Amino acid sequence: MKKILCVCLGNICRSPTAEGILQNTFEEKGFTEGTDFFLDSAGTGGWHVGEPPDKRSVLVCQKYGIDISNLRARKLEISDGERFDLLLGMDQENIFNIQEIIPQRYHQKIFLFDDSEVSDPYYGTEESFKQMFRQLKKASERWLNN
Ligand code: 4NP
Repeated sequence: MKKILCVCLGNICRSPTAEGILQNTFEEKGFTEGTDFFLDSAGTGGWHVGEPPDKRSVLVCQKYGIDISNLRARKLEISDGERFDLLLGMDQENIFNIQEIIPQRYHQKIFLFDDSEVSDPYYGTEESFKQMFRQLKKASERWLNN
């Protein structure tokens, strides 16, 4: 079973959206959560721990039939390095922050979710969230076979 952790800064905008999209993408291809794959998301910062995703992320996902409203933010933990096969960060700063929390021996599991950075939409507009969704959706396909 492939275990993937999506990571961003606050765990309320990008990484819960990425988690929802991956779940949707994998299930569309006939894979089953719990047997074929396991997904979660976390933030390197703890400001929003316990909160649901940002309403704008919930809305853009809803438009594509993906429900992320039940997700709750948590902070990245040291043990996530051992528990997951892939830790997918959203931008370069994110990658550095993940490397600070996760022990060195697991750093080969850390990658950018996409070739280019997924920029933080938190202070952006509705369009920023649509753009984020499109980028994450496109990039999600590659993680089917990796
Ligand atoms: P995210 O966006 O990392 O995509 O969840 C952010 C949400 C909140 C904050 C930063 C980024 N914040 O500083 O509160």
